[in-house]
Amino acid sequence: MEYVLEMKNISKTFPGVVALDHVQLQVKPGEVHALMGENGAGKSTLMKILMGIYSKDPGGEILFDGKPYNAANPKEAMDMGVAMIHQELNPILDMPVYENIFVGREIRKNGLVDKKAEIEEAQRLIEECGLHVSPKETLRNLTVAQCQLIEIIKAISVNAKVIVMDEPTAAITEREVELLFGHIRRLKEKGVAIIYISHRMAEIFSICDRVSVYRDGQYIGTDETANLDEAKLIRMMVGREITDVYPKLEAEIGDVMFEAKNIVRADNKVKGVSLSVRRGEILGIGGLVGAGRSELVEGIFGIHPLSSGEIYVNGKQVKVNAPQDIIKEGVALITEDRKVTGLNLSGTVNDNIAMVAIKKLLKNGLYSKSLAQKASEEYVEKLNIKTPSVNQIVGNLSGGNQQKIVIAKWLLNEPDVIILDEPTRGIDVGAKRDIYLLLGQLVQQGKAVIMISSEIPELMGICDRIMVMCEGNYSGEVKREEFSQERIMTLASAIKV
Ligand SMILES: Nc1ncnc2c1ncn2[C@@H]1O[C@H](COP(=O)(O)OP(=O)(O)OP(=O)(O)O)[C@@H](O)[C@H]1O
Ligand SMILES: [Mg+2]
Repeated sequence: MEYVLEMKNISKTFPGVVALDHVQLQVKPGEVHALMGENGAGKSTLMKILMGIYSKDPGGEILFDGKPYNAANPKEAMDMGVAMIHQELNPILDMPVYENIFVGREIRKNGLVDKKAEIEEAQRLIEECGLHVSPKETLRNLTVAQCQLIEIIKAISVNAKVIVMDEPTAAITEREVELLFGHIRRLKEKGVAIIYISHRMAEIFSICDRVSVYRDGQYIGTDETANLDEAKLIRMMVGREITDVYPKLEAEIGDVMFEAKNIVRADNKVKGVSLSVRRGEILGIGGLVGAGRSELVEGIFGIHPLSSGEIYVNGKQVKVNAPQDIIKEGVALITEDRKVTGLNLSGTVNDNIAMVAIKKLLKNGLYSKSLAQKASEEYVEKLNIKTPSVNQIVGNLSGGNQQKIVIAKWLLNEPDVIILDEPTRGIDVGAKRDIYLLLGQLVQQGKAVIMISSEIPELMGICDRIMVMCEGNYSGEVKREEFSQERIMTLASAIKV
């Protein structure tokens, strides 16, 4: 049998949205098969149908090992050998690791859950996976990457034949990506098929054997990675050529608008870092994950206490005890973790976009729904957010579109200084370009932008200057004329003497 999994003619309609329109997918045993497509193309939806989280519209069929397959829920899917690691990890934070691994398929003895056996078995699986955590640790105390590995362990332990990974690398470090790829290669050798979803081109070309592309709920085609290159793949995904992936708009650079001096965090995760950004300038902050970049901007923003540091906005010193103190001065921080600090998932698009800029939406001193509606609609259009209306619940939007809402919400407040932490994570190529252009327009209007990113090409593409951090320290900076991948990498991995 050539395929372990075949999905044929699958459709899914949500109120106001055709998420999938007669699409297909064929997966071979032992291959890593990428699903690619713009935000909202239908990738996660297709996989949720496979897992029995959503039911497909009538018609169409799924064959697993050549036999009809229809899972009513994730447990049934797992029992049949299909497991999924989700885009938005939703671990039950107070649950210990071993319980999480065996949830829904507890090891029992005389009808009772055999805790001891579960802990022992979990320990064995964790060791096998090269992870260093205790099976009794609660998930709250694990890093995102560790939680992800626990999900992988779970998938391995049910002897899955097909494992779906929906943007598994969105929140993990380079080293952990290598670890993950190691696991993927071993699974492949055992004949396990991996369905891999990611917006990072480099990953697709390094780990995937074949690619299936979807656009706006339609199936576009499947090809071997070896026959494709980046430009070809973009054309399949977007339906047109994108030649200029990193557009840089010219802006006049003026006086210093924002300055932070000698920032030291009370927890010592930032050890005395200064930065400044001028009107019209885009400053990049580069470094490896864990270099203290998010920690720096969160410290500046009053989210974590500082033991020293001074902050100036337009030359005026600002005492920051809480985020409100600095937001008031026209500074915005667009955080990396949209779930925790960025979004209200059960609120509408409108609620979320209007959240910060409420003052701008008053009419005679009262909150005006119609003003909010108009403003949200404007941003939905500007950022090309895919949603049937501004009254849609944000939790129903695709991952990348949720990220765009976070950006819209802060921009509506018209801040003078915009700090963005990994703003394009999980965002497709076309939408990334929209965001770069938007940032370019903002600095043309006389604003200042600070952008943290782990993607060096992105930083080199749109920044005027890149400052690099390493282990909580400032390790140097590079001007646009002198940009080189190598320079930035060297600074990022500079070992402090
Ligand atoms: N529960 C839901 N209710 C309503 N609409 C939904 C729901 N789930 C998904 N959609 C819509 O279906 C479409 C496809 O979404 P999906 O999450 O599958 O996209 P995706 O390809 O995974 O995108 P991304 O790359 O951004 O993760 C989107 O327009 C989305 O808003
Ligand atoms: Mg998705």
